[in-house]
Amino acid sequence: MKRILFVDDDPEFLAALRALFVGAQPGWEFEFAAGGEAAWELAAQKPFDAIVADLAMPGMDGAQLLTKVLNRLPRTVRILLSGQDDRESAVKLLGVAHRYLAKPCDAAELRDTLARAFALSETLANEQLQQLTSQIKSLPSLPDLYVNLLNELRRHDPSLPKIVQIISQDFGMCTKLLQLVNSAAFGLHQPLNGVEDAVTYLGVETIKGLVLTLQIFSLFQRVRIKDFSYEDLWTHSWTTGMWAKRIVVAETRNHVQAEQAFVAGLLHDVGKLVLASALPEQFQTAVSLQRSQKLPLRLAEQITFHTTHAEVGAYLLGLWGIPAPVVEAIAWHHQPQKDPSGNFSIVTAVHVASGLEHEHNGVVFREHPDLNQDYLHAIGVSERQGFWHEGIWDSSQG
Ligand SMILES: [Fe+2]
Ligand SMILES: [Fe+2]
Repeated sequence: MKRILFVDDDPEFLAALRALFVGAQPGWEFEFAAGGEAAWELAAQKPFDAIVADLAMPGMDGAQLLTKVLNRLPRTVRILLSGQDDRESAVKLLGVAHRYLAKPCDAAELRDTLARAFALSETLANEQLQQLTSQIKSLPSLPDLYVNLLNELRRHDPSLPKIVQIISQDFGMCTKLLQLVNSAAFGLHQPLNGVEDAVTYLGVETIKGLVLTLQIFSLFQRVRIKDFSYEDLWTHSWTTGMWAKRIVVAETRNHVQAEQAFVAGLLHDVGKLVLASALPEQFQTAVSLQRSQKLPLRLAEQITFHTTHAEVGAYLLGLWGIPAPVVEAIAWHHQPQKDPSGNFSIVTAVHVASGLEHEHNGVVFREHPDLNQDYLHAIGVSERQGFWHEGIWDSSQG
């Protein structure tokens, strides 16, 4: 039984939630609190699986309540509801809540958000993962340059020169960024000469994703692992990001989702970097097992670590407050059937893009295909594969 607490100072809103949810969702039980203090009292008596709190409340507001919950009951799923006017402050609170929903919110969206959050926390609640991450003494913190960039982007009116200035402080970052965007894979017709051009042309969201990924890739110490190439991992990640984005554009034309798919694709295998740098001997064992037994790396990791790079990566990015849809796509990129929506999503796109890239490069063993055909069939996109394939090849040649 999942226990969910709704917190709002508006009695009418609580009554509406009560009417919509109570009894409508088997396996879910609801409680209601009229403010932050009352909610905290209830939560302290018996923890909830999820707390959905309004941001603006007199006394203890939603952000204060969820900060207390984060510190004292970290396993609780935290969802913050905010009105149009305080959306900006909600964004500033990145990390306090797992998700932010704008009010008025649709019951189906709220239900879907809760279902996904529960499914993700189940994926990440496995004991082996907890043990493993506790062995990793210091997980790196979110890179500074990215944090500075986020702070600027969170301002009401982010300034382009400031964004360019932040990125330009790191010469290595500028070089890598320009190399990337001018590489054939990006398919630009004209080369971009400076960071300003790149930001203007590609948009801040794409640049933000690229900066995060480049920083993460340089963050981890590259311990030499026999038969494991960091360059190949980078190429695979990069291609997966590009392809996942194209697949989302082809299916949904939703550009926010497309950018999230791009970032999720870039970062989907980041758990391999964590394992290789933090636990190199065991990771070497997994890689050797992959070779000798012709197993996909995820199965070799499962044998060695009792968990895989997918969960490890999602765990780290979840700690950093990376948006939930990105974290989900990373967590489930090998097991897309865990996405409770049952529809095409960025989880699908990253699963397919990574799988196609592996197939393209011949790293898939016949006994262990990368693409989950049952899943693709179940969500009704099985016959779209040929189309995706063509779109990917066409544009990567362009
Ligand atoms: Fe993977
Ligand atoms: Fe992959």
